[in-house]
Amino acid sequence: MSESPLVDAWYAARARRSHSMQIPGHKMRYGRAGLTSFAQDVLAPLLQDDIPLQGGADDNVFSGRVLEKAEKLWAEAIGADHARFLVGGSTQGNIAALTSVVAPGVTVSIDRTSHRSAHAGLVTSGATPRWILPRIHPEFGVPIGVNGADVDMEGAYALFVTSPAYVGTITDIAPLAEVCHRQNSVLIVDQAWGAHLDFLPGGGAHARGADVVTTSVHKALTGYSQTAVTSLKGTRVLPSTLSHGVDLTATTSPSATLLASIDATRVALLRDRGAHMALLIEATADARATLARVPRLVVLDDATLGCVMDPLKLTIWVPRTGTTGAAIAAELWQQGIGVEAADADTVIMTVSVADEPEELAQVVSALIAVIESQRTSPRIPAPAATWQIQPDVVLSPRDAYFAHRVRMPLRESIGHVSTEQFCPYPPGVPLLAPGERVTQQVVEAIEVAGKTTRMAYCSDPTATTIEVVDESRSP
Ligand SMILES: Cc1ncc(COP(=O)(O)O)c(C=O)c1O
Repeated sequence: MSESPLVDAWYAARARRSHSMQIPGHKMRYGRAGLTSFAQDVLAPLLQDDIPLQGGADDNVFSGRVLEKAEKLWAEAIGADHARFLVGGSTQGNIAALTSVVAPGVTVSIDRTSHRSAHAGLVTSGATPRWILPRIHPEFGVPIGVNGADVDMEGAYALFVTSPAYVGTITDIAPLAEVCHRQNSVLIVDQAWGAHLDFLPGGGAHARGADVVTTSVHKALTGYSQTAVTSLKGTRVLPSTLSHGVDLTATTSPSATLLASIDATRVALLRDRGAHMALLIEATADARATLARVPRLVVLDDATLGCVMDPLKLTIWVPRTGTTGAAIAAELWQQGIGVEAADADTVIMTVSVADEPEELAQVVSALIAVIESQRTSPRIPAPAATWQIQPDVVLSPRDAYFAHRVRMPLRESIGHVSTEQFCPYPPGVPLLAPGERVTQQVVEAIEVAGKTTRMAYCSDPTATTIEVVDESRSP
């Protein structure tokens, strides 16, 4: 078998001079002479590499089986038994995993700080969540992993946890796997932020016993935006079962360009034998050491947090410098430096194999200069409400989602049951989710978060009204 079946097929399709009488409508050749200059100069360059899987990298009946071959090679590379490539991000993977593993009325123990897609997976699957919370660091207010002792698996068919968390903290998966497997339950891990872990010596969540794992290839690795993989290890979930969920949520017209970038990412990593990643891990450690010398700045790492931190995440905690993460991020953006996320207390930066150590050092210098220019007296920390939510659950997410709805001002909705998500993005963890009672605390959290981040996925973009369960029409 070729080392890179999908990549080879993509390049072959690009070189082939065929006369396409099928989609995509641009036929990979839009922009020939005679078209308007806009079509030629603007549209054509945008489309020229958009090669579909069907009728592009493979024929209409997939006789080359190039996707299947590439998925098999990915599974082998990460020590899984089965993998499915996704072009709907880890969002699709989480929805697919939950929809295939659990079912209406089945209990899943699930981290309440899960990404919104896991909450969506509860709506599609109809499963009953038993919410668990990760441990929160008492001083820095960030999640430091889900502890096996905090997980109640009594009667639960599956456990769903997120690791690494958005801030970069990693949960020890092995004890959770043990808790699950003792009673033959399924451990699902949202490893959206940790695709690189699968290529590091210790491995990722599968190596620590997870059954189903979803990773975003576009986040920590080098896939095109939207690319992700859901993979399976062991016999608790059948490949066909997982595929039901994947196929239910997948487009029927996937882009071979996106998919080939997953295949190419694997080959590039394997050929490099981890050398560049090791270099960047070292550069990240150097960056952390430099930042740790900045007075009153805290670098969140294994030592300060007391848990394992993603070696390619650079997360700082700023209240003692007097400024805010949001102010630092805004100034860095003006200087052409985008950070992964920032809130009042933290700034999160993602390092990847696409970085160079010298560039990272420059970013650190710019960051230090910004902190110094904004430095004032230490202020009281204002931890993100995202990690502190204690939901008052009234209905299952699915029942609330499909209930009759009525809109009302958010401030007047206290006591009512939400039918929708209010998600500060990033990190995309709902402050309020379908089936949860609106409380004074949640309304305040939505208002505060809305001042510094985009409040996403609520039906009113101003986040001042809400659709709640219409009790006059609900049984
Ligand atoms: C923990 C977590 N899971 C899943 C996702 C969804 O990933 P994607 O953007 O690849 O759909 C995100 C996105 O930020 C995330 O933070």
